[in-house]
Formats: sequence, C-alpha cells, structure tokens
Amino acid sequence: MDEKLVSIEEDLDAKGSARRKMLVGAGTLAAGAALAQFGGLIRSAEATGGSTEKWPWPYKKLDPAKTAEICYNEWYRVFCGAAVINSVFSQLREKVGEPYKSFPADAFVFLEGGQVGWGTICGSPAGANIVANCIIGPRIAGAPEAHQIAADIMQWYSETALPVYMPTNPKVKDKIITTTSDSPLCHLSVGKWMKSSGHPLKSAERKDRCARVAASTAYRLVELLNDWKDGTYESSHDTSCAKEFGITGQFNCSDCHGDNVPVPPMPKKS
Ligand code: HEC
Repeated sequence: MDEKLVSIEEDLDAKGSARRKMLVGAGTLAAGAALAQFGGLIRSAEATGGSTEKWPWPYKKLDPAKTAEICYNEWYRVFCGAAVINSVFSQLREKVGEPYKSFPADAFVFLEGGQVGWGTICGSPAGANIVANCIIGPRIAGAPEAHQIAADIMQWYSETALPVYMPTNPKVKDKIITTTSDSPLCHLSVGKWMKSSGHPLKSAERKDRCARVAASTAYRLVELLNDWKDGTYESSHDTSCAKEFGITGQFNCSDCHGDNVPVPPMPKKS
C-alpha cells in the first residue's frame, strides 16, 4: 500500500477509536452512519468544549446584504452550495466561534451543479437548508422551524424570478435576465435561464447568474434566520406535496407529466 494512505489510516485510528466504540454501543445504523460522517466535526467541537448536537447553535443576527455579497464572491471559489454555507458560517465563526469554527464548509463544494453536475436540487437551497438545520436543529429535536424554513426556501426559490440580488461590484457588467424555475431542481433552473438568455452553460453570464442566485438565496435565508431569532418567524410554504398527492415531489405535476398525471397507490380508506 502507498505510504501516505497508511499514515492517513493510522491518524484516523488514533483519533477515531473512542468515537467508533461509542457508535458500536449506540447500535442504530442510521444514527451511526450520520455520526460517522460528522465524526471529525463532532470530535473537534468536543475538544473545544462545544457540542454540535445541542440545538439551537448560538446565532447572532446577520446583515442579509453583507451575507449576499460574501456569498457572491465565494461562489467563484466554492460554488453555489458551499458559498451559501460559507457566507453565513464564516461570519458566525468570527462573531460566535464554536461550533462554527469546526464546521467543514468547503466539504460541501460537491453541491455544485445540482450535486456533482447531476442537476438535482440546486446547491443554493441545499446549502441554505443545511445552514438552517445546523443552527436551529432537526424537527426530531423538538423544534419544527428549521424544517419549515427549508420548505419556505424551496418554495421561494421555485416561485421567484431569480436572481434578485444585484452584487455591488458584479464581475459581469451586462444585464443578467431573471427567470422563474417553478422547481428547486438545478437542471430546470439553469435550463430555463439558458433558454431565455441564450447563454451556454460555460459562459461568464451563466456563472454570474448562478453566483447571484446563490447570493439571493443567502439573503433570503438570513432574513428568515433573523426572524426566527427575533421570535417573529412564520412559515409561508404550502403544505407538503407528499401528504397531498401521495408521492414526494413538486406541486406542478403537469409541467412534466402534461395532462396525464399518474396517480400513485394510495392508502385504503378505512
Ligand atoms: C420535475 C418533473 C416532474 C414533476 C414536477 C412531477 N413528476 Fe411525477 N414523474 C416524473 C418522471 C420523469 C417520472 C418517471 C417517468 C414517468 O413515468 O413519467 C415520474 C413518475 C411519477 C409517478 C410514478 C408512476 C409512473 O407513472 O411513473 C407518479 C405516481 C408521479 N410521477 C406522480 C406525480 C405527481 C402526482 C406529481 C405532482 C404532485 C408529479 N408526479 C410531479 C417527473 C415529474
């Protein structure tokens, strides 16, 4: 085996053995997998006296415009998902410290292109929802707000003519048109914009459009987080499509299915 690989394994083993023992004791596979994934993060937070699984994480209100500007510039380094995450967490790292200092924000570069170019969920709402759920906590921890904010973000992203945020010093000076995706999918969001604008995927305009979409999402996220912090947050999304239609998805069924929307198997009425 390669020498470098061996030493990385050893390094992991020295730091990871205590955590792994605990995982074996904990028993449940799902919890184990989630913990293993964030093992490094948890370890470093413990070392500094913080805890990543005590919700909510300490939050200080941020300036939406400043956050959007950071996000816009970060896009050109780490792309949509990680740019949204970094725009919030980099500021909280300064204002609060832990657990934000231990959060591996650059690890989320893979959200780009709807996850490694597969055109699934756009990295901007994905990143925003990671942030909200880290700060407020998951719904199973007794607070429903992060879940609600995530649903608000998905709906807002789908219904808004994006991008709304205009950077103070845009890298592309020409007008960037806006389009409504009717979907949180990167494929549809980018595709509809490319069709309307005529700019190809690799163009400077498309890149700047996506940087501005990320910045717009970071702006909206911080507005919602600030409301939550003030105790004035109210959820604005429609209720879950899964509940209403018996299948996970988006409400605009006919956009993809035309007039022939399939009906999923429904539970028998008792
Ligand atoms: C973004 C596009 C898109 C949207 C929006 C969408 N679907 Fe689908 N759906 C698909 C595709 C693609 C398939 C798989 C291919 C197919 O069967 O048409 C599918 C499959 C299904 C299936 C599985 C059965 C089957 O015929 O394949 C059901 C049921 C279904 N959709 C219902 C819905 C309902 C109800 C809605 C709205 C609440 C909806 N879909 C919205 C794209 C979409």
